[in-house]
This record gives sequence, C-alpha cells and structure tokens, in this order.
Amino acid sequence: MSRHIQLTEQGRLKHFLSIEGLSRELLTEILDTAESFSGMAGHQIKKVPLLRGKTIINLFFENSTRTRTTFELAATRLSADVLNMNIATSATSKGESLLDTIRNLEAMHVDMFVVRHALSGAAHFIAQHTAPHISVINAGDGQHAHPTQAMLDMFTIRQHKKQFAGLKVAIVGDILHSRVARSQILALNSLGVDQVRVIAPKTLLPAHVKDMGVIDLHDMAEGLADVDVIIMLRLQKERMNSAFLPSESEYFRCFGLNEAKLKYAKSDVIVMHPGPINRGVEIASSVADGPHSVILQQVSNGIAVRMAIMSMTMQSHGVSA
Ligand code: CP
Repeated sequence: MSRHIQLTEQGRLKHFLSIEGLSRELLTEILDTAESFSGMAGHQIKKVPLLRGKTIINLFFENSTRTRTTFELAATRLSADVLNMNIATSATSKGESLLDTIRNLEAMHVDMFVVRHALSGAAHFIAQHTAPHISVINAGDGQHAHPTQAMLDMFTIRQHKKQFAGLKVAIVGDILHSRVARSQILALNSLGVDQVRVIAPKTLLPAHVKDMGVIDLHDMAEGLADVDVIIMLRLQKERMNSAFLPSESEYFRCFGLNEAKLKYAKSDVIVMHPGPINRGVEIASSVADGPHSVILQQVSNGIAVRMAIMSMTMQSHGVSA
C-alpha cells in the first residue's frame, strides 16, 4: 500500500511507514547505513552533523520506552533539534483533531514527524496530509506495522548470522495482535531467509496467516526444531477484546520459552524479543538473561538503525549521508 507514498520518483526513501513494497536492495542499504553508524557508539563524541538545523518531533500517542528514547538518541546523534510532544498534556485532550495538531506543528517549520499511534494507518494518514518537505516515520501503528523495530531486528540477526540465506526463523506468540510480527515477516521474506515459522495457539494466529509467506505450527517441539533464530512476542492484552487463552500459566506451559524448549533449536540459536518482556508469561528469566539472548543488543542496535532511517529519509530533501 505504501510503495508510492514512501518513495520519491527516484526510488529514494521519503517516508518510512511499512516494510511493504520496499525492495531487498533498499532494506540492505538501511542495514549497511546502520552498520556505518553503529561503530560510533564506542566513540567519545557520538555525534555527526548530518541533520544539523533539522527539527524532528516525536509524536507518541501510545506509551513507549525503547522506541521513543532510541529515536530521541538517534536524532540527537545526528545533531537534529528534537522535541518530544507530551500527548497527555497537549491540546489533544481538549478535542483537537490529529490533523489540526499536525498542521499546527507544521507551522513551526518541522522537518520530520516520528509517530506512534494506536490506530492502524495513522502514520500513513499523516504522511498523506503533510507538506512535501516533511518526512514521516512510523514508530508503530495499531496492529499494522512497526517497521523500524523490524529493521533493528534484521540488523541484529545479520550481526550474529552474517547472512539471511539458509536461516530458519521462528516467531512465537501473539501473532494476531502483533504489528512487530507483520513487519518482521515482510522483512525476513524480502531479505531471503529460508523459512519463517509462526508458532502460536490457533486463537492467536490471523485467519489467513499462510498468505503472509509463513509456516504455521502449534507445537514448540516441532516449531523450534533446528531453528537459527527465535523471536518471542508478548501477549498484547491491550489489543485483546475477549479471552484468547485459558490462563497465562497454561500459555507458559505450552508456548513459553524455557531452557528445556530452547534445546529443540540449533545449538547457536539466538533468542530475540522486541520488548517489553513479561517474564514467566512468554519467556523464562533464565532464557531472557541467558547466553543465547540478544534482547538488549536489539535495544542498542535501535539507535544506529533509526539514525540510518532518519538520515536516509532526509536525503530525499537534499541532505547527504
Ligand atoms: N519494542 C517496542 O516498541 O518497545 P516500546 O513499546 O517500549 O517502544
């Protein structure tokens, strides 16, 4: 849906709203650009002047720990001026519409909006209605997409496994309500992994999940057999409008990742989770904090990947990376 709106006529990234419609080459360019920024973390001066003079507004209509702070750090490290809108104390609470909020912020000469919203399509809607010089980045919209999370996950996988070809990846848990899973599946398939498996109770899988290019399974022993990467997902209770499970303890028994179930996977498997994690619900602490876990590396990689995406979208406005 977003191919047309996300890219300039020259095929450069203008907005980053979804993985859908983006080529393997473009996704690889994001990963390569992030690689060039990731070395900066160890430098004494962690800043580059790429976005000096640019103004970025973080518009988070939904709670966030990792995404908002790593976007803020990424913008700061690119030398942009960054402003975090506090939605709870903004005029949104007085009934101002999303579009009126955007128009008023635009009048302050903004160059980029980073948007998280509970409604699927919110970032796309803003991109359709902003001035042509403004880029919009989707920081998670409803159940639809969380493309920067997917790209930092791809970066982490490539860091550990070097290439995507030949990999078997299992995504476990609440696929039905997960914008992260949707974006990850698109990215993994576009980058050419061998297999994407989704493992969940039937109640937590979308009706036509096979159409997404995955193998669906309902048993951890079968699903985790010989996988290179395990991605665990949280039960997204805030998006559940009825009971999808008998109990959390039953869910953990069947689908929670503990050390016994980890043994089904390859011996060098990496364990990932976008966070926030619920210990003892989808993952045991011994696995979350164990030697296979790369969960905190995912968080660190979020800075370099978001720097890459921000600088690439600004290139469409003449900023050179
Ligand atoms: N992974 C993720 O989106 O976490 P936050 O909700 O803390 O941003």
